[in-house]
Amino acid sequence: MAFAFGFTNEELSDDDAESSSTRFNSSTPASKSINYKLDTYKVEEEHLPKVHTLESILKSLEGVRITFDYHKTTNDNIIYRRDLFDVKHQIMMEDCDDKLDSKVVIKDEIKNIVIEKNDSDVQRNIYEGGFKSWECSYDTIDEIGKLMNQYSGSTGFSLNILNSSTLDLGCGTSLPSCYILMKKFETKCEKSMKLILSDFNYDVLRLVTVPNLIINWASTLPSEDLQRLTTDEINSRFEANELFITTNLINEFLKQLKDSNTEIKLISGSWGKEFNDLVSKYHINFIISSETIYSTVTLPIVAESIKIILSDSATFFKNNGKTFMCLLAAKNIYFGVGGSIVEFLSHFKSISDSKFKVEVKEIHDSQLKRSLVLIEYCP
Ligand SMILES: C[S@@+](CC[C@H](N)C(=O)[O-])C[C@H]1O[C@@H](n2cnc3c(N)ncnc32)[C@H](O)[C@@H]1O
Repeated sequence: MAFAFGFTNEELSDDDAESSSTRFNSSTPASKSINYKLDTYKVEEEHLPKVHTLESILKSLEGVRITFDYHKTTNDNIIYRRDLFDVKHQIMMEDCDDKLDSKVVIKDEIKNIVIEKNDSDVQRNIYEGGFKSWECSYDTIDEIGKLMNQYSGSTGFSLNILNSSTLDLGCGTSLPSCYILMKKFETKCEKSMKLILSDFNYDVLRLVTVPNLIINWASTLPSEDLQRLTTDEINSRFEANELFITTNLINEFLKQLKDSNTEIKLISGSWGKEFNDLVSKYHINFIISSETIYSTVTLPIVAESIKIILSDSATFFKNNGKTFMCLLAAKNIYFGVGGSIVEFLSHFKSISDSKFKVEVKEIHDSQLKRSLVLIEYCP
């Protein structure tokens, strides 16, 4: 049986139903002036960035059944994502497990947000919205789809996303990265590719980022392989829209990543100088950042980080024909908290120079106004 798609677009999960209205907790400041700078931005000890191996996160998911649905984007790209109710179910099950590894025990404040408040509140420095898939992540997927076609179809434009070191800055459910991974396997591309996924919360990486990566990879497997890998002697069931994370499935995922020269790195913790220092070793040439400029506190940090990460990588590669680019997607205005596309563009202009080429594409549909900002560093 093939990966079964029992859901229709109308039966989207509860996260989408909420996603057109962004809710922010009162602790999220609505400051108007942008005066935060990377150099002076202080990250508390407990939020310093940390790298986690994919293996360690996958290990913590062994034996978990993941329920998922799919979403069709405006440009008909299909992407799979774990259901929010399934995340809640796992959290509640783990809550009753006293043998649980202390590394995976979720803090009560986050547990409450996901279970009680249906995950829609952003609470600054506690939870930054990563459990939910936000609208602009679908715009990002469609734009990545176009960039991939542009690469294969035209001359002069040389961003090969499947042969890039890509940072998903503020990945949350990481759907754009999942789309890239899916394309890597669908096209059987063996060129080396890195995906660096960062989220403020480790729990988001463990409960939605990595599950979505494995679901989307699994969707590219021949049905017999999928059946074989998700079945064992005790659990011989494979059901539609459900993926059983067996040891065999994990091993095959890791093997196929290795065979296809694909590296996945996961980073939890806050953006800031330490984060940029940490990711500099991955020589990132493509940054994706969807719905990360809602706060006027972190908007300038995102802007400066994009500038620094791209220009440092270009220096490392000595500009040898690589493209250094960022695709940022956001709502035009985040009501009540001050972040906006206009603020981002004006701030980015004030900190960058003419080597950065910026293009803005507005999305016109019946939902909230949104934009895609394409920033290319041309040294
Ligand atoms: C609104 S969510 C968007 C998630 C995802 N990109 C999407 O579009 O569905 C914002 C994301 O940025 C991350 N984020 C926000 N502030 C952050 C900070 N100070 N440091 C690190 N990550 C942060 C959150 O963890 C979250 O994943």
